[in-house]
Amino acid sequence: MEINQVGVVGCGLMGSGIAEVCARAGYRVVVCEVNTEFLEKGLNRIRKSLSKAVARGKSTQEQADQALAQIQGTVNLSDLADCDLVVEAAIENMDLKKDIFAQLDSILPPHAILASNTSSLCITEMASVTQRGDKVLGIHFFNPVPVMPLIEFVRTILTSDETMDIAWQFGASLGKTMVVAKDTPGFIVNRLLIPYLLDAVRVYEDGLASREDIDTAIKLGLNHPMGPLTLLDFVGLDTCLFIADAMFDEYKDPRYAAPPLLRRMVLAGQLGRKSGQGFYDYS
Ligand code: CAA
Repeated sequence: MEINQVGVVGCGLMGSGIAEVCARAGYRVVVCEVNTEFLEKGLNRIRKSLSKAVARGKSTQEQADQALAQIQGTVNLSDLADCDLVVEAAIENMDLKKDIFAQLDSILPPHAILASNTSSLCITEMASVTQRGDKVLGIHFFNPVPVMPLIEFVRTILTSDETMDIAWQFGASLGKTMVVAKDTPGFIVNRLLIPYLLDAVRVYEDGLASREDIDTAIKLGLNHPMGPLTLLDFVGLDTCLFIADAMFDEYKDPRYAAPPLLRRMVLAGQLGRKSGQGFYDYS
């Protein structure tokens, strides 16, 4: 099966990045948002990222223009009817995702593959509302999508070899490196990342060191591009809390239990970069 047209559901931080890398790889892309305001915001993010790619010498102006021309925005899920593969990158809410999967199952042609970019929710549960469980998998990208070279593929007990092969070719065509994980909360990266981030909040809460020193220690002592508190702000505290809660729910392991400070910061609206305030001030 050849993939010509890719659908992306959601044009937020992840969805816009996914639409961009697919278009840059030459696919026709239809990206769907819930309303025109969110859609325009997402398309603007793509335009900005493409300009940055040109400024950094990663793409020519002509290639960037071509990529942009490959992307069609819509607010109607039914406009994804001709897609061969759809990546759902909506907000992390299982009921919403199941609703999207059920709708897409009746809209898409029988050969189409249905993927979720979820970082922690159960792919098998999403597959359960479709009649094409063998064609459902997780395709988990990393933020910022145009820069991060990894894709985690999440294979459920229903996903067929053929689907995995097609997804693998698709990932390679985007220039990414792929790994495969079982359908368990956190997959590989977040299974290891989340306890580390939660521990960083715990040691900060305990007063071990200042936030700057915690970040500097990890950045320079381990050569990480960002310290853990900066990374929490970058990913979004609400997203990290959501993933931690989903993992704790499944494993009941204290390593995944969110520290009180993280929950309180989320309740206070301190979500990191996106809200202007997290462990650091971005206003
Ligand atoms: N398109 C293509 N390339 C781009 C680009 C774009 N729009 N924007 C930037 N780049 C390239 C730059 O040219 C540069 O490439 P070179 O190294 O070849 O010069 C590289 O990307 C880095 O760009 P910048 O210089 O602008 O940025 P930086 O050096 O300050 O790094 C960062 C920024 C990439 C975000 C870096 O700080 C980093 O890697 N941080 C960690 C990010 C991370 O861990 N992400 C994963 C989060 S977890 C997640 O996403 C999953 C989940 O489920 C929670």
